[in-house]
Amino acid sequence: MILETIVVTQDEAGQPHLAPMGVHSWEGEIAILPYRPSQTLNNLLATGVAVVNATDDVRVFAGCLTGRLDFPLVPAKRIACFRLRDALAHSELKLIEVADDPIRPKLRCRIVHQENHAPFLGFNRAQFAVLEAAILVSRLNLLPIEEIETKLPSLRTLVDKTGGPREMQAWDWLMAKIQEVKR
Ligand SMILES: Cc1cc2nc3c(=O)[nH]c(=O)nc-3n(C[C@H](O)[C@H](O)[C@H](O)COP(=O)(O)O)c2cc1C
Repeated sequence: MILETIVVTQDEAGQPHLAPMGVHSWEGEIAILPYRPSQTLNNLLATGVAVVNATDDVRVFAGCLTGRLDFPLVPAKRIACFRLRDALAHSELKLIEVADDPIRPKLRCRIVHQENHAPFLGFNRAQFAVLEAAILVSRLNLLPIEEIETKLPSLRTLVDKTGGPREMQAWDWLMAKIQEVKR
């Protein structure tokens, strides 16, 4: 199963890096598949560790893609890395195998520590819509803008109908980014 998460890594100087990533999850292991070029890839290869964060605050996804990277972090417990302070849950990972690839290497990791911090309160369609829009924004340099724009109205309806202030704000950040790229 693929889970949409926030992956935190750090470079060799200790500088943390946040990136939304759809990670592949199964019993005791998680695989991260970054498209080259990727800071997440460079950091994981350099340090051998990462933290996968589960969050229902979709502003973190939208923020990472629109240059807002100041989400609070706290140190991880068992590895030299950080986690999102406000994550619902997090998994601390150690790299165990690299399946190299010129486009999208697969980094197989073992979960060395896992913790829950807050309850999962239920599914929300606006959060799903923001995630879909965030994926479109992450492909702004790959997809024709017309293709992206045709998908937005139905997503917007979900945000308007079912979202709260966090979802609205995340949506606005993403739409502003699309307008910026169009200009
Ligand atoms: C929900 C979501 C899932 C994503 N999953 C991936 C992924 O699995 N691999 C990837 O390379 N980029 C993925 N992206 C795009 C990256 O977050 C984005 O390109 C980011 O800049 C990654 O590059 P970095 O490692 O240099 O930060 C995803 C974006 C979103 C919004």
